[in-house]
Amino acid sequence: MFRQEARGSDLRSLPLFADCGPEELKAADSLATRLRLKNGRVLLREGGTDRQLLIIVEGQVGVCRGEESPLAVLSAGDFVGEMAMLTGERRSATVTALTPIEVLVCNDREFATLIERAPSVRDKLIAAAAERIAANSVAA
Ligand code: CMP
Repeated sequence: MFRQEARGSDLRSLPLFADCGPEELKAADSLATRLRLKNGRVLLREGGTDRQLLIIVEGQVGVCRGEESPLAVLSAGDFVGEMAMLTGERRSATVTALTPIEVLVCNDREFATLIERAPSVRDKLIAAAAERIAANSVAA
């Protein structure tokens, strides 16, 4: 596993950070840590109580619940884990790397700082969580 700090220039190219001002980018840059992970790695497990936000920089992940067919395939610029971080509930789905991936990871403390210092990021995370919760309740 490879670990290094995220770079501001990378962040700017991701839609989640596209509306960030320089101060927001600086805050985000200092908070996220980059990981490279292998194909097949389970990143988040349905029912889990861990607290991490993962932002996909490269590669694809699959989102599945129970025995249902996959809810989504997500790729660069997408993120996962925001629902449990925002609601305090258990992980709603299992997320697995479908290819080798690079992700930016924020733990709960970093997440709290990020959404406090980067309102545009907070708004996008809340909007995505609301959309996904609505989609899952229709699918259920
Ligand atoms: P969380 O519940 O913390 O952990 C599983 C994650 O899968 C969830 O946050 C979302 O990030 C993601 N997820 C759940 N449902 C969907 C969906 N319908 N579409 C895309 N991503 C989803």
